[in-house]
Amino acid sequence: MSKPKVFVTRAIPEKGLDMVKEFCDADIWPGELPPPREVVLERVRGVDGILSLLTTKMDAAVMDAAGPQLKVISNYAVGFDNIDIPEATKRGIPVGNTPGVLTDTTADFAFALLMSAARRVVEADKYTRAGKWQTWGPKLLLGPDVHGATLGVIGFGRIGKAMAKRGLGFDMKVLYFDPVNPNDPDAESLNATSVDLDTVLAESDFVSVHTPLNKHTHHLISTDAFKKMKSSAILINTARGPVVDNQALYQALSSGEIAYAALDVTEPEPIPLDSPLLGLDNIIIAPHIASGSLATRDKMAVMAAENLIAGLTGKRLPTCVNPELFD
Ligand code: DGY
Repeated sequence: MSKPKVFVTRAIPEKGLDMVKEFCDADIWPGELPPPREVVLERVRGVDGILSLLTTKMDAAVMDAAGPQLKVISNYAVGFDNIDIPEATKRGIPVGNTPGVLTDTTADFAFALLMSAARRVVEADKYTRAGKWQTWGPKLLLGPDVHGATLGVIGFGRIGKAMAKRGLGFDMKVLYFDPVNPNDPDAESLNATSVDLDTVLAESDFVSVHTPLNKHTHHLISTDAFKKMKSSAILINTARGPVVDNQALYQALSSGEIAYAALDVTEPEPIPLDSPLLGLDNIIIAPHIASGSLATRDKMAVMAAENLIAGLTGKRLPTCVNPELFD
């Protein structure tokens, strides 16, 4: 019997890729960079499944190009803002994602960014390498304490809660804002207090963003939000770039409206080299690597492969974004 045909938009770790190769007739885009749009539209033609990365848009045009036999789209990410979910659902195509396995790894990195921004780790390294370290200095590269400070978590889902847990370990006071989940049962054990957005912004020393990207969260952190924040505040974003308005962020950082930002995600990605943000000293920008531990990326690969194979065999996807298709 012939194997189902799938298009894999970029090579994922072997643990998952081997499963895909064994079960499917897999066309794997070999490039380091995502396939160009016209290549995607060409290569999906006639496939039964697509294993996509967050860097490739899966919209109606891609689904049309694939054809009516398309049975599943499996995203190698927990976020799925690259996929038109209503369109997939309308066509009866289940979409898989990779929640859970990357929660702690992502929160670890968000906390690493928080610590690095507060204690100016990246600036300190640059200072040393530039040969500027001449002696111990009483006022050299000072920053705020992390312990005892107030951590504001925007979006109290899995990763937001994992961030709160790390804050608790550093004796931080934790506030959270989550309009979908204002009375989370885990809040008590995490010693986290539910407040409105204005209160999180006004009272937090560190504001960490953990929301999905959708029409409600697009540019949620913009000029108005920065005006409400403390001038000593540090913003951390490991969610999605467009949740923060870059222009407003530049304004806030360069005018001293807030003190620092540490981003793992930007709008667009990669951030253009002529972005004014890259000219600032009070910002750290990482290339979207928060889930990038060896073990986690393997687990994500296995999960993505399992979702793909389940969809190809007409089974319920283990982790499905549009589970109503199976109800
Ligand atoms: C995700 O999974 O959505 C992250 O952004 C990448 O791991």
